[in-house]
Amino acid sequence: MDLGIGTRNALVLASSQGLGLGVATRLCQEGANVLLSGRSREKLAAAARQLSADGPGSADYVVVDLFDDDAADTLYEAASKLLGRVDILVNNTGGPPPTDVRTPDTDLWRRQIDAMLIRVIEITNRCVDDMRRSGWGRVLTIASAGVLQPIPNLALSNTIRSALVGWNKTLSSEVAAAGITANLLLPGRIDTERLRQLDAISAERLGISHEDAAAAARKAIPMGRYGTVEEFAAVAAFLVSDAASYLTGSMIRCDGGAIMGV
Ligand SMILES: NC(=O)c1ccc[n+]([C@@H]2O[C@H](COP(=O)([O-])OP(=O)(O)OC[C@H]3O[C@@H](n4cnc5c(N)ncnc54)[C@H](OP(=O)(O)O)[C@@H]3O)[C@@H](O)[C@H]2O)c1
Repeated sequence: MDLGIGTRNALVLASSQGLGLGVATRLCQEGANVLLSGRSREKLAAAARQLSADGPGSADYVVVDLFDDDAADTLYEAASKLLGRVDILVNNTGGPPPTDVRTPDTDLWRRQIDAMLIRVIEITNRCVDDMRRSGWGRVLTIASAGVLQPIPNLALSNTIRSALVGWNKTLSSEVAAAGITANLLLPGRIDTERLRQLDAISAERLGISHEDAAAAARKAIPMGRYGTVEEFAAVAAFLVSDAASYLTGSMIRCDGGAIMGV
């Protein structure tokens, strides 16, 4: 299927590795020009070099920390300079540390809300203004299966990402008539560095081996396995494509059937 994104410019947040890089890679393989972002200059430079060499799209990068107040300005200025305009915005952030809901560290809550919610709103607002002018746009925000089935010990993720649900639905209604779609993509358990870290933490918490923790997690997934970054990126690419032009205001699961609610 021709996804029709070969001529598009895409800004992908938090994309030096994992899900963000996977999505950027797939978009570049479809021919898009991609701007990577994250804190690690070394990883970003290597990834951009590789993506451009593999083509057919091209890739560049901007170093930015989503905890910084001016991160949205930095991202938007780099995108304007290096892409010209953003047609496709993929919102992604670093995952928050595991905590139970009663963590007394209010400052941690504030900082994570800034990095995972406020920054996403700020950069989206800037890009959507440009998308309105061009009459075409895609906003895809990576959240988590935890918004439908809260994940134990991930209180920050469950709570902050639930705010993205109301935000995305409101945004989608406001921009739909301008040819812009806005959707949330909910990863279940996709095999990345973050997932391996979370399995290690849960193994320690439960006093079991890393392998036993991962095996128990896999057993709770009807498909019996973690998803691959490529499987996740394929869904993301469809959601930002021309083919998905009548799909907006939705939450799409990529979870191997793990979320038990309908
Ligand atoms: N993998 C899953 O199954 C899964 C499931 C549910 C939700 N999620 C969520 O999806 C997101 C991506 O997950 P992942 O598995 O790909 O995680 P990952 O492998 O840890 O990658 C995280 C990415 O975020 C970037 N990042 C982290 N903190 C940042 C910051 N302050 N400013 C800018 N960039 C930052 C990292 O780059 P730098 O280190 O270079 O900054 C990296 O590129 C996370 O929020 C995670 O909680 C993942």
